[in-house]
Amino acid sequence: MADAFDPQHAGRLEDPARLKALPPEHVVRLLRLRGDETVVDYGAGTGIYTVAVAAALPRGRVIAVEALPRLAQLLRAKITPELGERLAIVETDSNTVPAPDGSADRVLMVDVLHHLYDQPAALAAVTRLLRPGGLFVVVDWGDRERPVGPPREHVLGLAAVRDVIARMGLDEIEAHEPETELPYHLAVVAAKP
Ligand SMILES: C[S@@+](CC[C@H](N)C(=O)[O-])C[C@H]1O[C@@H](n2cnc3c(N)ncnc32)[C@H](O)[C@@H]1O
Repeated sequence: MADAFDPQHAGRLEDPARLKALPPEHVVRLLRLRGDETVVDYGAGTGIYTVAVAAALPRGRVIAVEALPRLAQLLRAKITPELGERLAIVETDSNTVPAPDGSADRVLMVDVLHHLYDQPAALAAVTRLLRPGGLFVVVDWGDRERPVGPPREHVLGLAAVRDVIARMGLDEIEAHEPETELPYHLAVVAAKP
């Protein structure tokens, strides 16, 4: 598994080429939102996807969880008056998310699973936060030769992501290999029973 994300690479998260290959609208679609949900964006980084998700939640809210202070600071700078209280930032590197059990309708991880520090604790936090019927949406680099992204040996691949999800006790709803819906990324949506 890869090392922790290097905050010096924050700019790469907002590279237009990245957003073209992994469009925020696509991530929002995977979340299957009505607009009133609570979504936890786990490992939100600079918030480039967080803000798109918040925009799709006129009656809901996003809790953005981020371990690195520099990235949380860049995300904080994106909170506009329109987003206001619909976007809360939790800065923690110990997977301590101050939200009740079962309070999340969705948990999202975009390019996070392969970076997780203390993976069991983070995944336990995801399971705790999700309500029954809530969805865990994972989007991550595929285990393929790619012109961009981390080396293959640093990513998980679909079989390993499915394994993580099964071990969390979640039920897979949809799964996509790279080069199907997204050029370089796999995506899995799973529900908490
Ligand atoms: C490659 S970045 C992706 C950021 C964002 N999801 C995006 O796609 O733009 C991975 C992020 O996950 C964060 N992260 C990894 N493990 C974490 C954990 N256990 N708790 C909070 N944040 C974590 C890192 O600090 C980093 O900002």
